[in-house]
Amino acid sequence: MRDWTPADIEALRRWIVPPEQGVHKWQLFDGPFYARWTAEGANGWCDGLLRRAHDGDWPAVREHLAVVDSATGRFVGQVSWYWEERPTEESADGTALLPWRRLGLAIYDPSDWSAGYGTEALALWTDYLFRTADGDRLDYATWSGNAGMCRIGAKLGFTEEARFRKARKVRGELYDAVVYGVLREEWEARRAG
Ligand SMILES: CC(C)(COP(=O)(O)OP(=O)(O)OC[C@H]1O[C@@H](n2cnc3c(N)ncnc32)[C@H](O)[C@@H]1OP(=O)(O)O)[C@@H](O)C(=O)NCCC(=O)NCCS
Repeated sequence: MRDWTPADIEALRRWIVPPEQGVHKWQLFDGPFYARWTAEGANGWCDGLLRRAHDGDWPAVREHLAVVDSATGRFVGQVSWYWEERPTEESADGTALLPWRRLGLAIYDPSDWSAGYGTEALALWTDYLFRTADGDRLDYATWSGNAGMCRIGAKLGFTEEARFRKARKVRGELYDAVVYGVLREEWEARRAG
């Protein structure tokens, strides 16, 4: 994983700008029930990334990184996180919203799928976030039709924490919404073991 280089950003642009016709295959699996990138939105996002790469303007805890093949440096995808809930200050009686981060992962080219990139990237990203950020848990949300993403959670020792049955409709079929999570102590014990 690395901070975005201009070459990574141009590779990302090719994957997120909508094709002339249809959709990219990765979009059939990546939250297909949410609104897709428009060309304008995708180009704006990539142009913003280019400016930040030029200035080295990244937050202390990175919110996204490029995933590249470590042998060749070839761009293959990205990891990200977003706030499920932002923390609040603890009140006198010890009540607060805790920092709650949700992970994102995409390996764009179908010819790169099932080669191990996704599992390794999510493991590195989980390590990175537990090392650099507060919070006792991390999780990600996916759907039961995304077999690769569900398999990664199981492989990395995440717990299936929620399954909302028949909560998603994709191309005419009903699927479950699924959340996989891991606690800091579980992750550390697994690493130590
Ligand atoms: C889901 C995704 C991240 C998986 O990444 P990946 O690089 O293929 O993952 P890995 O190679 O580490 O594979 C992990 C496991 O899932 C399996 N797997 C991957 N894709 C699969 C698929 N489409 N169907 C069934 N199993 C699959 C792999 O065989 C492997 O299992 P194994 O170790 O038991 O053999 C990738 O396919 C992707 O980015 N898809 C498009 C975007 C997306 O769906 N993002 C997630 C949004 S929630």
